[in-house]
Amino acid sequence: MALRRAAHRRSHRPVPTDGISIVPMRRRHVKQVVAIEQQIFPTPWSLSLYLSELTMGSNRAYYVALAGSEVVGYGGMMIAVGEAHVTTLGVSPRWQRRGIGRRLLLELADTARERGADDLTLEVRVSNTGAQQLYHSFGFVPAGIRKNYYAEVHEDAIVMWAHDIQSEEYGRRLDLLAGRAPGGEGDG
Ligand SMILES: CC(C)(COP(=O)(O)OP(=O)(O)OC[C@H]1O[C@@H](n2cnc3c(N)ncnc32)[C@H](O)[C@@H]1OP(=O)(O)O)[C@@H](O)C(=O)NCCC(=O)NCCS
Repeated sequence: MALRRAAHRRSHRPVPTDGISIVPMRRRHVKQVVAIEQQIFPTPWSLSLYLSELTMGSNRAYYVALAGSEVVGYGGMMIAVGEAHVTTLGVSPRWQRRGIGRRLLLELADTARERGADDLTLEVRVSNTGAQQLYHSFGFVPAGIRKNYYAEVHEDAIVMWAHDIQSEEYGRRLDLLAGRAPGGEGDG
């Protein structure tokens, strides 16, 4: 499975992000996750695919961002032989650009470190420069192109990697992104 491309972007309405929590995805969230999928990806994952992913145990990690009981974003990855592959990341159109994608990716990166992965990887559509900017801030660098990876839309994928995520340096990067380090965003 691979990270998919965005269908299209919608206009944003101002929505406060106070009170967003990131929690492990459960079966009860999946219907709402798929409803977001259908808005942001041209070939959305199905309900049954998500439900099956949730049964895969410790080599998977899926999270949702909740505003109260509303699912507003989600992200997931597969972890195998020291490498964590981000397979999906999405935020509901009206909640985008409010730091929720960053928080979900932070949760995935923290989990990848906790579970012993050395590297993080993902694919992103060549034209999805917004997502690429987010990944760049997490230390992902382009490593190659998969031609026509998104065959339905005839678009190539950029393969990106963040290496050596167990290093202190990478830990400091995550702390800064999370605003949990001295000198970070949350520190005044
Ligand atoms: C990509 C996506 C997950 C980002 O989530 P988000 O909550 O909107 O992003 P955030 O607010 O956390 O953005 C964090 C940073 O990423 C970068 N970024 C995110 N979206 C961006 C955009 N559309 N244009 C430019 N930069 C963007 C910015 O650097 C941003 O920081 P800033 O707002 O302080 O400038 C979300 O826009 C989405 O679901 N898009 C549709 C599906 C998709 O493309 N998924 C990724 C497939 S590879």
